[in-house]
Amino acid sequence: RFWFVLVIIIAYFLGNISPSILLGRAKGVDIKKEGSGNAGTTNALRVLGKKAAVITLIIDISKGFAAVQIGYWLSGSQAAMFCALAAFIGHIWPLLFKFKGGKGVAVAFGTVLGINWQLALLALGIVALTVLITRMVSMGSVIAAVSFPVISYFLERDFFWFGIVMALIMLYAHRSNIKRIVKGEEHKLSLKK
Ligand code: G3P
Repeated sequence: RFWFVLVIIIAYFLGNISPSILLGRAKGVDIKKEGSGNAGTTNALRVLGKKAAVITLIIDISKGFAAVQIGYWLSGSQAAMFCALAAFIGHIWPLLFKFKGGKGVAVAFGTVLGINWQLALLALGIVALTVLITRMVSMGSVIAAVSFPVISYFLERDFFWFGIVMALIMLYAHRSNIKRIVKGEEHKLSLKK
């Protein structure tokens, strides 16, 4: 029980580590106030450039992956799944950054990669295909969130309810994007910067 609680707290704070906020600060930019105001890879690309976006993506994926591994090592597979959720929540609502973080897409991918890589690859394929077709990263995230519980039901039944909770939180985090998508006003991906 002690280890179970401890690993979940560790996972939550791992999720708090926000590369995009820190890289922004290093450049004198508050990423929470620029572009979409989101502390994630897409907005890092928009506001800070390609290099910062790649670093943000790698660190956000890695912290999700690491949180799950720590859960496995110290307390077993059930703890690993709670760690996935804790890191995801820690990224979206980080205590260390006044509870204003990102939308959880990369960190969720990292956690799922640590739990079932086939499931992660399938989700990644869904995001990539949607982004390729629509050129909206948020659309890829929304479609992945909606389809994730369905694919986890078939590929990783133990993770199904976690998948539902993560998908609902992810949709909630994307509420302003969803409004823009509906109005036809969502930002399109641009790699020019
Ligand atoms: O990962 C977040 C992405 O789905 C949307 O980001 O900055 O366009 O709101 P953004």
